[in-house]
Amino acid sequence: MDSAKLSLDGQDYELPVVVGSEGERGVDITRFRGESGAITLDSGYGNTGACQSAICFINGEEGILRYRGYPIEQLAENATFAEVCYLLIYGDLPTVEQLQGFSDGLTYHSMIHEDMKKFFEGYPASAHPMAVLSSMIASLATYYPEVAGEEDDDLNIVRILAKSKTMAAWSYKKSIGQPLVYPLNHLSYTADFLNMMFSVPTEKYEVSQVLQDALNVLLILHADHEQNCSTSTVRMVASSQANIFASLSAGVCALWGPLHGGANQKVLEMLEMIRQDGSDYKKYVDMAKDKDNDFRMMGFGHRVYKNFDPRATILRKACDEVLEELGVDDPLLEIAKQLEDVALNDEYFVERKLYPNVDFYSGVLYRAMGIPTDMFTVMFALGRLPGWIAHLKELRDDPSSRINRPRQIYTGPTVRDYTPLAER
Ligand code: SDX
Repeated sequence: MDSAKLSLDGQDYELPVVVGSEGERGVDITRFRGESGAITLDSGYGNTGACQSAICFINGEEGILRYRGYPIEQLAENATFAEVCYLLIYGDLPTVEQLQGFSDGLTYHSMIHEDMKKFFEGYPASAHPMAVLSSMIASLATYYPEVAGEEDDDLNIVRILAKSKTMAAWSYKKSIGQPLVYPLNHLSYTADFLNMMFSVPTEKYEVSQVLQDALNVLLILHADHEQNCSTSTVRMVASSQANIFASLSAGVCALWGPLHGGANQKVLEMLEMIRQDGSDYKKYVDMAKDKDNDFRMMGFGHRVYKNFDPRATILRKACDEVLEELGVDDPLLEIAKQLEDVALNDEYFVERKLYPNVDFYSGVLYRAMGIPTDMFTVMFALGRLPGWIAHLKELRDDPSSRINRPRQIYTGPTVRDYTPLAER
């Protein structure tokens, strides 16, 4: 095994180097504090590996993304979301029988307990659907207290995947005052979600194949992305042996932030703002570059991708195809493309390697599908559920895993004595 040498106070420390299957190298500092008394510091964990994982590989310099070794381009082109869920969670593409069994689970567990339906009566119509989703997923623990054991884990995995799409659709129906639509067992995962979102008792709703295919690609593209903020949150919570529902609910909360999954909603709001400002996109490019202006080009930049985000490339193409098939001419798509073209040729963006990320085009597609802006991050969460579950399962299956507990460098007051109130 390779090793690295670190010198501190004139003392040399030999640290083992771990090499991954794609040749990535990590200096293992597990023993460093015990031997030197010092820790390493990396605020935001930009250069720190939290674990070794076999689920997702990203090469940010080359714009590569693979789920269990399969290129994202091939999965987006050929797979169903149910196949990708199975692949991420169980490690291989399912056989016909395995997929049938798994899909049946996603179908027959999509109802939620009738008592949970009452929860929706308590939410205000203005409730953000991410708040609803995170609390509903956590509340599943009240109906399905975890019992240790493989079978129960597999059952809870399909419960969450199946019931989350129902809860997401119901949060939308609640927000527009329409009756909740129950899942239908004869529909596929994507068709069933769209039916629960858009069908009404007063007329027959046909789920379009174009929308089903677009949703399938969107869910696959969002399914996993190694140690991003929300996945790391799921691993952090799961490392304390908290139940699966609490761990995934924490992931939903982390994803909600505008710097993470909440960016897709912010991108649409930004594009709409530019449109209302005479589509003067160059003005907003200049604002994004202005250090005195806190405006950021939402949907641009990435901690890992320092080249194009392959998901954005796929989504840009899908936008053209789906909007044409739907006969939608969305001025926001044109503004997005003009922003991208200007930014990719602007020194500020080029120097900082800022490219469109997955959130830049996804909102245009969701909007074309009739999904409201404040549901965009919920759509991201539905896609990311299998990735979160896969990482939680990998952590639980690793006998060497232990509770995550980072250290710190204290910078507060040194020791001082308590002074009675009268003397302050
Ligand atoms: C996701 O981690 C994942 O894998 C996440 C994700 C996943 O699938 O899970 O890919 C999903 O979260 C995608 C990212 C969505 N967020 C956004 O689109 C929000 C806008 N982007 C930025 O806030 C930012 O780019 C981040 C948060 C994505 C990355 O932030 P970093 O890595 O901490 O980069 P930084 O903030 O240190 O920026 C480096 C420089 C700075 O300028 P300088 O101080 O060097 O002069 O680039 C600038 C930043 O000001 N910069 C931007 C910018 N993003 C970075 N300037 C203008 N607009 C931007 N969007």
